Amino acid sequence: MKMGREQLYRLIEEAEPGEREALERLVVHSPWRQKFHIQPEVGLLNDPNGFSYYGGEYHLFYQWFPLGTQHGMKYWYHTSSTDLVHWKNLGIGIAPGGPFDSHGAFSGSAVEKDGKLFLMYTGNTRTEEWVRFPYQCMAIMERDGTVTKLGRPVISDVPPGFTDHFRDPKVWKELESYYCVIGTQRTDHTGCVVLYSSADLLNWRFEGELGTRLKQFGYMWECPDYFELDGAGVLLFSPQGLTSEGNNCRNIYQSGYLIGDPLRLPDRDFRHGEFWELDYGFDFYAPQTTQAPDGRRLLVGWMGLPEIEYPTDQHGWAHCLTLPRELTLDNGRLIQRPARELVKHRGRMAEVHTVMHSRAADMKELGGTVYELLAHIWEGGAERFGIEFRVGPNERTVIYYDSAAGKVVLDRSESGQGLALEYGTQRSHAVALRDSMLTLHMFVDTSSVEVFVNDGETVFSARIFPEQVSTGIRLYAEGGSAEFRVVQWEIE
Ligand code: FRU
Repeated sequence: MKMGREQLYRLIEEAEPGEREALERLVVHSPWRQKFHIQPEVGLLNDPNGFSYYGGEYHLFYQWFPLGTQHGMKYWYHTSSTDLVHWKNLGIGIAPGGPFDSHGAFSGSAVEKDGKLFLMYTGNTRTEEWVRFPYQCMAIMERDGTVTKLGRPVISDVPPGFTDHFRDPKVWKELESYYCVIGTQRTDHTGCVVLYSSADLLNWRFEGELGTRLKQFGYMWECPDYFELDGAGVLLFSPQGLTSEGNNCRNIYQSGYLIGDPLRLPDRDFRHGEFWELDYGFDFYAPQTTQAPDGRRLLVGWMGLPEIEYPTDQHGWAHCLTLPRELTLDNGRLIQRPARELVKHRGRMAEVHTVMHSRAADMKELGGTVYELLAHIWEGGAERFGIEFRVGPNERTVIYYDSAAGKVVLDRSESGQGLALEYGTQRSHAVALRDSMLTLHMFVDTSSVEVFVNDGETVFSARIFPEQVSTGIRLYAEGGSAEFRVVQWEIE
């Protein structure tokens, strides 16, 4: 049942007696609860927020609506980890409901200063007439995890030239100064990013719009992130309103990046190359990065999309985050690999080495609903070859290489309960074989798959909703042969 505005914008304290318990009962019976992804105990999760390393631990918050599976009053939910593998649920990080975040503590980020973690976020407010006004707010977390809101916004206006779509501050430190980028919409209804600077995180100076070449590129840019990697400047953002073309931009909204020269003040000019999507799967949005203590750039995304109904909406919970990925730069493109810590997950191993010649075969040694799988596949003339997984009597999810088209395809048309069907059931992206070889590195959880192709060159993330009995793995090659070396690990 859909909630009305009044129900959506309630605080936790305003829940009816038994309301949370009712959601919990639904969650317990959900067949699609994840085993090793960050997911909400109840309610709806969306963007990762405040991703940081502080006090000897990673902190990762997320947007959370506790009272249902629609987008309502947003909280920050707090999780932490010492190893990027095991995450602790720590409860509410930031609660909305004050004068400057009366309708939600929206997305934002974190930076350490003076031994404290500063959480900068967008306070969403609405008037009685439902007119939106965004404030950029600050909350400060101590070593013991207590969070105190500043009590006044640190940026309380929207500069001329932009609409009330002005949110998602991503803050960073450079030398002795702090900077933040904010996603926004120009008054002509095109998206862009603006830049602020600060000496103390409390007083911010509007520097102006970040000068990209993309003047007409969607109507709103959400969740920007800026960092430098190997001497290049990288801008991530989630543009809304792009039109799909060929294999690109097939989802309702996109997330992608620009690589260019490092940003310099005062001109804020960003000379960059093409816009590339970060993920070519079905469910990926609003990613955020942080820097690990050893210097690696880590990224986590929301494995979901706005305005799409998901099968677990009926089960009292919705969505999860992606696994953490390590970013590197290669030839003007971002390479994304699963965080190396994830090998800690690996349990019992099974291996298969076989050649398929114009046939498909179930692999008795392999299978399950929760696992990591690494396949090296050598093309031996096959027109098409790949892996069917989560195979059951009436179901299968397929990842394959189409040799003629030179692309990898992820097909969820027979994955189980369908979703977002109006956006299609296949995603694909051009991939070149390397010495006739393709690698597929897959992380399969109860209701998701993340596939890293050719060592992180292309990634596909997708939610899938198969039956629990669909556990099979089948290898196949059509119109020729392919040689497979597959290793599978249970996840502990
Ligand atoms: C992106 C987004 C952000 C906003 C948040 C609200 O998914 O719309 O722009 O801050 O979600 O939950």
